[in-house]
Amino acid sequence: MKKILITGGAGFIGSHVVRLFTTKYTNSQIVNLDKLTYAGNLENLKDIETLPNYRFVKGDIVDATFINDLFQAEQFDTVVHLAAESHVDRSISNPLEFVNTNVIGTVNLLNAAKSIWGCSKDKPLPTDKRFYHVSTDEVYGTLGETGLFTEATPYDPHSPYSASKAASDHFVRAYYDTYNLPVVISNCSNNYGPNHFPEKLIPLCIHNIKNNKPLPIYGKGENVRDWLYVVDHARAIDVILNKATPGSTYNIGGHNEWTNIDVIRLLCRIMDKKLNRPDGSNEKLITFVKDRAGHDLRYAIDSTKLQNELGWKPSLQFEEGLEKTVDWYLANEEWLNRVTSGDYKNYYEAQYAKR
Ligand code: NAD
Ligand code: DAU
Repeated sequence: MKKILITGGAGFIGSHVVRLFTTKYTNSQIVNLDKLTYAGNLENLKDIETLPNYRFVKGDIVDATFINDLFQAEQFDTVVHLAAESHVDRSISNPLEFVNTNVIGTVNLLNAAKSIWGCSKDKPLPTDKRFYHVSTDEVYGTLGETGLFTEATPYDPHSPYSASKAASDHFVRAYYDTYNLPVVISNCSNNYGPNHFPEKLIPLCIHNIKNNKPLPIYGKGENVRDWLYVVDHARAIDVILNKATPGSTYNIGGHNEWTNIDVIRLLCRIMDKKLNRPDGSNEKLITFVKDRAGHDLRYAIDSTKLQNELGWKPSLQFEEGLEKTVDWYLANEEWLNRVTSGDYKNYYEAQYAKR
């Protein structure tokens, strides 16, 4: 029986990790700790929220006292840390929020784990405990037209978001080196799939196509991202958590590079069919807008280490995954309506606060 803390489990990726862990590890207790910022949506977990091995705790990782008390009371042996401010555009307008949550919040969790596990350089590294930090490929900066990010690529973040994630990664490694905290880090490429908040490129464009609204493409749409289906990311986290040695890092990616304009053209074609619109009609919604400041040109992940050492590989081709994603959004119109109207924010009070 394990006691696993997942932070940020009401968000996009976190909700898929919570679903995988609660349904797979039925003998473990899974606590989902989330502040429920605008990005946290407990409706993502409606289907598993009554499982006996699942519990939700509303709280802020920036509150050190609260975090220490929670760790003392619950005595977690595993932490899977996803809670973060995650949107690059928001980091450009409010960098401090990213420093608070992504850096200070992470250090608070490291301190609390170190304290309850009694970690120190004078003692052997605990083998039955794990602190898993979920990070991003954006810490590596930007690529030119060739090359891939490997685990050895030097950090070179450009946005306040990626700088805050890079800082948090450095702290996680420092706690391994200084205090023998049994940490693991993964750096993943762009995720897509169900439950993605419609401020990010793909869900925003699905929403806008549905409503015949313009599709805002930054600059010329030439920036390249390496897209991975979110469930494959959750599977990779599970594999790395269980198999990786403490202190190690794994890159996770789909070997699936697309320019933004090509992604949106493909999405337009898929949605022409799904919505019974004439071929080419959705493409007319594409609108080129002012570029993002400091916009990284290209991300591409080399996940050979993960594939060779731990046996993980992506399960879906992008075209198939994107169609599945569109199907999910069209079948879950109510989810999208509640997110865009803000009604999803009332779910906690209605369903949880009274429990
Ligand atoms: P998200 O924005 O959808 O979800 C973040 C979650 O964290 C939300 O539920 C939010 O309420 C919660 N949260 C935010 N601040 C908090 C705080 N102070 N205390 C407690 N909870 C808080 O993010 P996501 O896209 O699911 O990303 C999850 C993690 O994966 C992040 O660490 C992100 O850096 C990383 N990541 C994301 C991607 C991607 O493509 N989305 C790729 C690689 C890595
Ligand atoms: O690479 C992993 C990262 O991927 C994660 O760490 C981040 O949390 C996640 O948000 C994502 O970052 P991006 O900035 O790459 O994702 P976003 O969906 O915001 O943008 C994808 C690309 O599309 C990027 O080149 C910017 C562009 N874009 C984005 C938006 C929102 C547009 O052209 N128009 C838009 O309206």
